[in-house]
Amino acid sequence: MSRTVGEAMRAAIDSLAPMIGQDEARRDVRMLMAAATGWTSAGVAARRDEPLADAAPHFDQLLGRRLCGQSVAHILGQTEFYGRTFDVGMGDLAPRPDTETLIDLALSDPWTTLLDLGTGTGIIAITLLLERPEARGLATDLRADWYGTARANAQRMDLGDRLTFLASDWFARVSDRFDLIVSNPPYVTEADYATLQTEIAAWERREALTPGGDGLDAYRAIAAGAPAHLTRGGRLLVEIGHDQGEAVAALFTAAGLEDVAVHPDINGKDRVVSARSSA
Ligand SMILES: C[S@@+](CC[C@H](N)C(=O)[O-])C[C@H]1O[C@@H](n2cnc3c(N)ncnc32)[C@H](O)[C@@H]1O
Repeated sequence: MSRTVGEAMRAAIDSLAPMIGQDEARRDVRMLMAAATGWTSAGVAARRDEPLADAAPHFDQLLGRRLCGQSVAHILGQTEFYGRTFDVGMGDLAPRPDTETLIDLALSDPWTTLLDLGTGTGIIAITLLLERPEARGLATDLRADWYGTARANAQRMDLGDRLTFLASDWFARVSDRFDLIVSNPPYVTEADYATLQTEIAAWERREALTPGGDGLDAYRAIAAGAPAHLTRGGRLLVEIGHDQGEAVAALFTAAGLEDVAVHPDINGKDRVVSARSSA
């Protein structure tokens, strides 16, 4: 007799939990079941006693990819961020919920021009421009093909010409000044990168995760270039690793930026450093 939806999910959670913990396993299995059956998450919860039947091969195949270490975002080719669905391509960093801290901070102040350095899937620039309909922005990545997913997301979400794209090594090809500069740069140290789970390192390009060395090189480049690219009193916000607050704050202060502050995420871990231009 065919497994029920609930039985298949329980077995899947038991096999995934040793890799990623119970909570994440439950969430991932629910999303994979929704994708395999074509039901919503609520539909999956309501239909646990039904036979899995024709959806079984698809569910087993999706689960197999998850057990091989691929993230759900890369398996499904999309993920949720700040209440919207974003496409995620192979090589892109799968958006992390932690980045919503930076979004909340960016929206706590007025601004109309935005620069997003290292845009990847475009979650930061696109979310901010959708939340501020009068604003416009520039999104960069090191190579033009690395902002391809962002461009597709922006088109699908009807941003029109409010968001433009540029291939640039941090500020190298950026000429304007902006009210707000944001970045979630690669910040994993070379040593930590060597020990990362397959899940991350196999599907996300190295340049999305680590600048090498002590993990701070991207912040050095951003600190050096920010004063010349911020409008008077403009703000810089960067996401950081939980133990990098002090080092990044020191880099921003040494670059002549003012009001430097470290902000926690909802779990109480340091997640964002902010600063203001005095120019
Ligand atoms: C941690 S990912 C962040 C992606 C996306 N902004 C997000 O928050 O999910 C870092 C991004 O920086 C880009 N990047 C790496 N080195 C860069 C450089 N030298 N100049 C510009 N962007 C770079 C990567 O390709 C990647 O898209």
